[in-house]
Amino acid sequence: MSQLPDGPQIPRFLQLLKWVATPYRFLDDCAQRYGDTFTLRLSRCNNFVFFSHPQAIQDIFTADGKQFDSGRASGILRPLVGENSLFLLDGDRHKRQRKLLMPPFHGERMQSYARTIAQITEGAASQWMQGNPFTARRAMQDITLQVILHAVFGLSEGSRYQQLKPLLAEVLDTTGSPLRSSALFFPALQKDWGGWSPWGKMMQRKQQIHDLLQEEISERRAQPELQGKDVLSLMLSARDENGQPMTDVELRDEMLTLLFAGHETTATALAWALYWVHKFPQVREKLREEIDSLGDHPDPLAIYRLPYLSAVCNETLRIYPVAPIAFGRFTNSPMEIMGRQYEANTLVTACIYLTHHREDLYPEPNQFKPDRFIEHQYSPYEFIPFGGGNRRCLGAALAQLEMKLVLATILSHYQLELAENKPVKPQRRGVTIAPAGGVQMVMKGKRQVASRQFVTAS
Ligand code: HEM
Repeated sequence: MSQLPDGPQIPRFLQLLKWVATPYRFLDDCAQRYGDTFTLRLSRCNNFVFFSHPQAIQDIFTADGKQFDSGRASGILRPLVGENSLFLLDGDRHKRQRKLLMPPFHGERMQSYARTIAQITEGAASQWMQGNPFTARRAMQDITLQVILHAVFGLSEGSRYQQLKPLLAEVLDTTGSPLRSSALFFPALQKDWGGWSPWGKMMQRKQQIHDLLQEEISERRAQPELQGKDVLSLMLSARDENGQPMTDVELRDEMLTLLFAGHETTATALAWALYWVHKFPQVREKLREEIDSLGDHPDPLAIYRLPYLSAVCNETLRIYPVAPIAFGRFTNSPMEIMGRQYEANTLVTACIYLTHHREDLYPEPNQFKPDRFIEHQYSPYEFIPFGGGNRRCLGAALAQLEMKLVLATILSHYQLELAENKPVKPQRRGVTIAPAGGVQMVMKGKRQVASRQFVTAS
């Protein structure tokens, strides 16, 4: 068996503990000691090779899709999303499902979401009470959850929708801290001891979500006139090569995948963005000037294209990426990565955090400097918040549109402040990394630009 790159020699259990409890510190230590490539021993069955050199990332992201199996490396997500989730599929089944789910998250459809995003943001922000502190992550999650429910079901009201909202948030909160995240990483902790145990409670909530999704599926099957342009309608009308429709269980797992993947990540990114923008008033003022320059009725697509707003969103996703790594990928046959040969069945990943913290690409990597994205064009192997290749994030376009429109809507209309003048640290939240404490903010008041209306443009 060929030798894997060096890595920490501490016991596997301790490596996993560091990976769960202090992931970014652990990665920084490993990079300092072992350089661009190293091997972590995170489970009994697998050694995991982490890469952060753009050449290695390019080798991984441009390899033929058949070169890797990623679904079987993502088993950790099974309890959340189920067997038939896109996350867990490989080969032709993955390719087919991905092709089916892609159109609603691209091109023309994006424009129709812009209006909804601005409306939902306005509605949510109007509830913030002047002078009262609020948790930005939670407030952003309320917005992004409404957006993804709209995209997946095409609805934004009704009792089923109202029941789903808190249930989804509760399931995700089950992994909302490093301690609570442990249950995902240590299967021995996945014990269902009824409603009073965290795992048991999560399983109960998940069952309730399943029941609600099943009701929605049955209703739509029975009433084809309810079909619209939403993702569920598309999935309901899809047929495989044998003319067979997706089964109810397949539909349910795919909806759950989109609902979970589609809002938690974007909410975290938005909470970080609000933090950085309010930590550096000069960034906030420059952003406001840029947004104000579009006049009182800006076209959402013009907002999407604003260069400084884009730079701020990119720098937010660079400095503390929501996903520390891209999905793990098992090599299906021997493969060369950056001139070194790896055997079949090696587990590899692109380390997003370390790639984004390379001094040679991003001088002073721990400083928040949006201008670097104005001065320099980064390649898809240097700036990789959404991963790449045949697994690249399906919702990248929607996430970026949401980040920009939500930020622009809030900055245009409201005066917010950070409630505490101390640095917010990144902290594990399930398989993602989020701001510890969720970023506490205070609503100071409305800005005097009441005539501005994002939602009139379509
Ligand atoms: C800021 C927000 C987001 C971030 C940072 C993010 C990040 C990622 C990353 C790193 C991956 C793995 C890519 C790889 O391994 O190459 C991924 C996959 C995925 N994301 Fe996102 N994501 C975000 C928002 C969304 C949204 C809004 C959706 C909703 C549609 C979504 C749906 C997915 C799906 C379905 C996959 C699996 C793709 C596959 O297996 O083929 N994500 N995301």
